[in-house]
Amino acid sequence: MANIERSAPVSARRERRATPGQHLIGACRLFGTSLCLLAALSACRSLPDDRKPDLPGTTDNWTAYGGTSDETHFSTLTQINDGNVAQLGLAWAYDLPTMISAVGAPLEVAGTVYLGVGYTHLYALDARTGRKKWDYDPEVTKVAGPKLRMGWGVRGIAYDNGKIFAGTQDGRLLAVDAATGKLLWSIQTTEPGDGRTISGAPRTFNGKVIIGNGGADFTNSRGYVTTYDQKTGRQLWRFFVVPGDPAKGFENKAMEMAAKTWTGEWWKWGGGGNPWNAMTYDKETNLVFIGTGNGAPQNQAIRSPGGGDNLFLCSVVALDADTGEYVWHYQINPGETWDYNATMDISLATIDIAGERRKVLFTAPKNGFFYVIDRKTGRLLSAEPYTEQTWASKIDLQNGRPVENPDARFRLGSFDLRPAMSGGHNWHAMSFSPKTGLVYIPTLHAMRKYDVRNVDIAGWKRADPPNSANGYALPPDAELPAPPPFAGSIQAWDPVNQRARWSVPLKGLINGGTATTAGNLLFQGYADGQFTARSADTGKLLWSFDAHNGIVGQPITYMAGGRQYVTVVAGYGTTAAVQGRMSSQFGWDYRTQHRRVLTFVLGGRVMLPTGEKTEAVQPIVDPSFKIAADKASRGFAIYVQNCVHCHGPAAIAGGQAPDLRASPVSLDAEAFHAVVAGGALESLGMPKFDEFSASELEALRHYIRRRADQTATPSK
Ligand code: HEC
Repeated sequence: MANIERSAPVSARRERRATPGQHLIGACRLFGTSLCLLAALSACRSLPDDRKPDLPGTTDNWTAYGGTSDETHFSTLTQINDGNVAQLGLAWAYDLPTMISAVGAPLEVAGTVYLGVGYTHLYALDARTGRKKWDYDPEVTKVAGPKLRMGWGVRGIAYDNGKIFAGTQDGRLLAVDAATGKLLWSIQTTEPGDGRTISGAPRTFNGKVIIGNGGADFTNSRGYVTTYDQKTGRQLWRFFVVPGDPAKGFENKAMEMAAKTWTGEWWKWGGGGNPWNAMTYDKETNLVFIGTGNGAPQNQAIRSPGGGDNLFLCSVVALDADTGEYVWHYQINPGETWDYNATMDISLATIDIAGERRKVLFTAPKNGFFYVIDRKTGRLLSAEPYTEQTWASKIDLQNGRPVENPDARFRLGSFDLRPAMSGGHNWHAMSFSPKTGLVYIPTLHAMRKYDVRNVDIAGWKRADPPNSANGYALPPDAELPAPPPFAGSIQAWDPVNQRARWSVPLKGLINGGTATTAGNLLFQGYADGQFTARSADTGKLLWSFDAHNGIVGQPITYMAGGRQYVTVVAGYGTTAAVQGRMSSQFGWDYRTQHRRVLTFVLGGRVMLPTGEKTEAVQPIVDPSFKIAADKASRGFAIYVQNCVHCHGPAAIAGGQAPDLRASPVSLDAEAFHAVVAGGALESLGMPKFDEFSASELEALRHYIRRRADQTATPSK
């Protein structure tokens, strides 16, 4: 056990060092000796410790969420390539237990695959065989309490200096020994009684580990990022995304500046801005770029009634990596009101724009525009829509601000917003290949009707079901229309010319994250259960594998024992599973879906069990249950506020939790009360709602029963 770090690195070390050496030989031939010496010196200086990648994409391991710290999800490996990928086969599969979501991005370091899934259950698996080396369960369901209600599960972890770092739903940051799986330290990064939760991956740099949080959708949350010392867990610096109560004084000049862009008593709502996903460290500028989230609550008229830009919501904020001090920001959606997170990948690249070599960052946030931003200054270089959008005519490059469609702020009472709140692109990794010069974006195509009629803006309260959800009218209590044949796509975006090079429609709204390789390959899993390799330059499908489950997570690739492997976690959960019929159409039921770690190698011959079928669940109908319309309607409002993001819109589940229409529990008042209010299944991930009165619980039961009746004929 203790030796796993040491057993594999010998070959890994050899493989790694061969690469810069080969480059040097080439450089010497080209430039002669003096330049060659210089190059050799700088190469020596930049040679990091064995496990740590230095230059983007020059490692045989996959030690960071985005491959390397540049978050491009690109690998220089070529053993598997567009010429031989047809021979790719399964090397091993590791079965995971039933859990809220198996979507966590794996890492690979020196022959070990690490991953965190569900409520941050950590696993270390032998990269060549899949044999378990250790697992560690931080027992989130025992301590999360009400924070369990916002459960998404974990999306990624970090590695540095022999330690695995991971955040938990209840707001802890953990450091675990990568060799043994022993907990080294655990720090509470959130405050008692707050609504902050963690689902995203920490990132590491300069001996530090940084973590953000989520919570703006459900609570009066004020987002921040915090860095800690990797060795001890001691807090180093914290940056708040939005200003707090001015009466208490501002933490720094940036907050003072930001406060001028807010109106009313915003701090009572927390403000939001929670950085729950993208945090990219740039060693060239020593900046950390933070992607910030939506407002809390989403409707700006409640949060900041006199308008204002509401800094630093929906922005990219650059912080000094040493001190956490504000350096620059670019606000993607001033005065955000549509849940338009700017928390999606921030990838670093150096590209030629108008004949000039520029160090830039790319981001494709929810709002549908692709942004190219100068890394040093934060200046917007270009922004064009990468998908259908209705809210802006363009982004003005002179002042960097969107030219909004005046109707988008609901002057007509409602607005058909594209992209929908799920975004044109969500957290599912996009990747950038310096070889093709293209960015691969898992794209979503959906519309959401926002309605402010009948919303009591002045009297709005959180968790006030009869009123509205997040400051907008409740969506209608009807089954969503049948899903369109293709609601997603994968597209190759040219960031210089700001247009799609190719695009392929995909079934399902949300598909998996992407990884690209120097072997001209794009790897991606789909909602329909296929894991695929496409030609990165043309988009041609070269290989696919039936994973027996939908894939939401992102693939990684690495060398182990001289062979190139590709690993992906098959599992259907989080954002992908909460789209009602859009998700349920594939039949990935919570209790029966096959959550697995799948690893591929050229010539791999392992087979998944045959006959693994998933069938759409059947609602249970009980004619003796007399449904009362008024109770069911009241139950609907409670359901939308409290249950929808796990059990699915219109009570149609997509794999994140059991389908309640098919559960016998709602037929029995006592059992239902024990589960929902009594916390009988809390240890398994079903949160406790002990504040519900008996009549509220009954209302929920009537709603669920009504939905079962309405959908009793098979509806996938
Ligand atoms: C954070 C996600 C989450 C939320 C929010 C949530 N649930 Fe659950 N629920 C679960 C999970 C996970 C299970 C399955 C636990 C298990 O394995 O038995 C479950 C199980 C149940 C069951 C038992 C189903 C069965 O057949 O065993 C009922 C009933 C239920 N939930 C009702 C509700 C209601 C009503 C709400 C809203 C008031 C709600 N849940 C909110 C995650 C959630």
